[in-house]
Amino acid sequence: PLIKDLFGLTDLEVRLARRLGLKKVIIVPGDADQSDWVKKEMGRSGARLLRQMARPDQVVAVTGGTTVAAVAEMMTPTPSLKSAMFVPARGGLGEAVELEANYIASLMAKKTGGDYRLMHVPDQLSDEAREMLLREPHIQEVMELLREARIVIHGIGEATKMAIRRKSSPDEVAHIQHSGAVGEAFGYYFNPNGEIVSRVRTVGLQLDDMGGIESIIAIAGGRSKAQAIAAVCPAVGNDVLITDEAAARAILEET
Ligand code: BG6
Repeated sequence: PLIKDLFGLTDLEVRLARRLGLKKVIIVPGDADQSDWVKKEMGRSGARLLRQMARPDQVVAVTGGTTVAAVAEMMTPTPSLKSAMFVPARGGLGEAVELEANYIASLMAKKTGGDYRLMHVPDQLSDEAREMLLREPHIQEVMELLREARIVIHGIGEATKMAIRRKSSPDEVAHIQHSGAVGEAFGYYFNPNGEIVSRVRTVGLQLDDMGGIESIIAIAGGRSKAQAIAAVCPAVGNDVLITDEAAARAILEET
């Protein structure tokens, strides 16, 4: 039998998929909050999934974060990914450079032999600045690619933790807390009902334009992210979730 079945994870995957309205859930054993090894295993599952799903000349949009970075780290040269184009899903979100979507897109390209584009955009744009940037040929090229994206792979964060990690001002952090936000993805903050209560204004994929994407893959684990995952997945319209056992059991209230 698969190792998974020994842990009873296959059944957990089916129940979690049903609960969150997902087509597919992949669960790795353990709790990413407790051990980095678990995040690496999620990364391995993500890399395997991308390899299995790959089609020639596809565009893959990626977000930043340590979990998507773990996927990038596990990617290997694959013929089917050699013609892939990796692009950052959103512009500046205020991340440390090694956690930025830009960097992760370039890392995925380097590991697989594929290509990448960068989107150099400052954090928190005014409406005027955003309009102007959208007219830049370099940004238009990336936006064009994003419109063709076949796969999006993104992380999910706890709302307050992400606001602090982005060095949002104390006022912004307080606003996010008071708004009832529990989860964050793509720079959007969601309450437990999946409603958007705050967002980082930047260019790139907007939640509204993700309808045509064939596969929206979320990757996030650790018991502490249970509420965030449960809020974000239905709101984003995820097809696939890669998570860990601790988050899965907490969402299903089995611990
Ligand atoms: C960030 C993304 O880079 O990573 C966020 O912009 C996401 O949308 C976050 O929530 C997740 O980070 P981590 O390190 O917990 O995987």
